Amino acid sequence: MRPLMVIYPGNESIGRRLAEALGADIASLTMRQFPDEETYVRLATLCQGRDVIVVATLDRPNPKVLPLLFIVDLAHELRAHRVILVAPYLAHMRQDTRFNPGEAVASRSFAKLLSGGIDALVTIDPHLHRYEALAELYSVPAQVIHAAPLMAEWIQAEIEQPLVVGPDSESEQWVADVARRASAPYVVLEKTRRGDRDVEVSVPDVECWRNRQPVLVDDIISTARTMIETVRHLKRTDLPAPICVGVHAVFADDAHRALRSAGAERVVTTNTIAHESNEIDVSDAVAAAVERM
Ligand code: R5P
Repeated sequence: MRPLMVIYPGNESIGRRLAEALGADIASLTMRQFPDEETYVRLATLCQGRDVIVVATLDRPNPKVLPLLFIVDLAHELRAHRVILVAPYLAHMRQDTRFNPGEAVASRSFAKLLSGGIDALVTIDPHLHRYEALAELYSVPAQVIHAAPLMAEWIQAEIEQPLVVGPDSESEQWVADVARRASAPYVVLEKTRRGDRDVEVSVPDVECWRNRQPVLVDDIISTARTMIETVRHLKRTDLPAPICVGVHAVFADDAHRALRSAGAERVVTTNTIAHESNEIDVSDAVAAAVERM
């Protein structure tokens, strides 16, 4: 029986590509708000006995999560064989410890909530710093896709003489992997975050790379403060204006415009979150991961 793809509103582009790659039917989903802002959900396609794949990227997660839970619960009630959530961007991963007494560890609570409603999870580069694997948080089987090979491929095809620049020492392994695959040298910054929008970075001496094109890489671009501060430092050197490449185009408020205004030559992201900067397509890698499930 062909799998059934439920495309959460806002995920049409990646959802259609995935359905095509997987030979899945696209479900007829109706979602609307009642006048009191409660949510109406209807799945008007047969789910019984089928693998139901729900595609919902989870940036700006809070208003999305309750309707998503209604959808996965409904699919179970309609006797789906399995309900697989494809969340190209997985939210609430950065609050992964109690930094101050009394703080909620949102990554754990969120994982508990989602794991209760789904049979399996597929995601791309979840922000794993204090956890080694999603299995430490999620109680359902999870497939993690890494965007590093796709980013490296893009860098190799588009940039002559790149110098890969990573945001902090925690990400060094990942940055080194991107650089190795792109046959480029790399440097990593020292980063101190003092608040949501208060980031300080120090850039190592890069003058010896004067003939190289700096390419800043990061997993998430949210406020873009990390990239903006790095762009500012690099502009004081003799290197060309940097190109910024991110996996997840979260771009809070006007972060994308601010990054361009700070002097980024080009801003490029993968399509885990639909955004005008998307140039790197992850859908084939996601389809392969769903097939492995
Ligand atoms: C942090 O550890 C992440 O890897 C990113 O560097 C961070 O999330 C970027 O956030 P922002 O764009 O708000 O500086």
